[in-house]
Amino acid sequence: MLCIRTYVRMCGQKTIASPGRGILAMDESNATCGKRLASIGLENTEANRQAYRTLLVTAPGLGQYISGAILFEETLYQSAVDGRKIVDILAEQGIVPGIKVDKGLVPLAGSNNESWCQGLDGLASREAAYYQQGARFAKWRTVVSIPNGPSELAVKEAAWGLARYAAISQDNGLVPIVEPEILLDGEHGIERTFEVAQKVWAETFYAMAENNVMFEGILLKPSMVTPGAEAKDRATPEQVAAYTLKLLHRRIPPSVPGIMFLSGGQSEVEATQNLNAMNQGPNPWHVSFSYARALQNTCLKTWGGQPDKVKAAQDALLLRAKANSLAQLGKYTS
Ligand code: 13P
Repeated sequence: MLCIRTYVRMCGQKTIASPGRGILAMDESNATCGKRLASIGLENTEANRQAYRTLLVTAPGLGQYISGAILFEETLYQSAVDGRKIVDILAEQGIVPGIKVDKGLVPLAGSNNESWCQGLDGLASREAAYYQQGARFAKWRTVVSIPNGPSELAVKEAAWGLARYAAISQDNGLVPIVEPEILLDGEHGIERTFEVAQKVWAETFYAMAENNVMFEGILLKPSMVTPGAEAKDRATPEQVAAYTLKLLHRRIPPSVPGIMFLSGGQSEVEATQNLNAMNQGPNPWHVSFSYARALQNTCLKTWGGQPDKVKAAQDALLLRAKANSLAQLGKYTS
């Protein structure tokens, strides 16, 4: 059971879920960061990762649109190019530092080529150290694949892992972001995504209740309800919003403070338009963003590893951050 001290420490979720702000996901593992750097012709060295992450966190005024930044472990302990701690720069910007705590996906034996997420072993002690280092929230991402099932086994495993992680995080004073990503891959229509999402969230909340997770001290990071990436029939932002809000109303208690969507391979503009469509009326939760690619894609390309392009790249990041801030308020116009 949670003690009062833990609850008080966790009030950060209200800061993160504040009007006109959302999360910058910059928690690419070193391997994923390497792929992003390769796409602009850079080597995956610590210096290049540091230069890129410095560019992101020093974008002037970023905190106006961004309330939290999810970091990879390396970044939590990393300094910027000028020697200041990255967590200190975030604090100056009014941005709460968070930490990816899962250890990634591995094949799920006995399933239909599905995966499960590792990282529960030693989680409590790692989280206690992350808290000391300045982290105030955590993220655990597991995935569910529609073309591969999803099997009952994969959904139950995903839900149970998320619930154990959420309970351990709350015990260690970190607000858990609960992220069962339903991958976009596949030719299925939006109805099928809706059906799978209902099942996944039902299992996740059941498992969280069984593990005594305090719902008012969590944040969710769902996928939007869209057709599969290869589906012939595309959906408008209004359709995506209608299905996604129907899902949230059916499955998410109003005590949950914030719903911070992932972008999942949507284009930058699409992710903004869909979020904007969801904020055209009042919602019981803060409905916002926790994007990686949909905030960073143009920024990364603009930078291209060139020191004289840092300002232009930061402007590209701020442009997306501001657009999504307006979308959180339902006021984005393209
Ligand atoms: P994308 O917005 O690129 O899907 O990344 C979100 C995420 O889960 C990383 O934290």
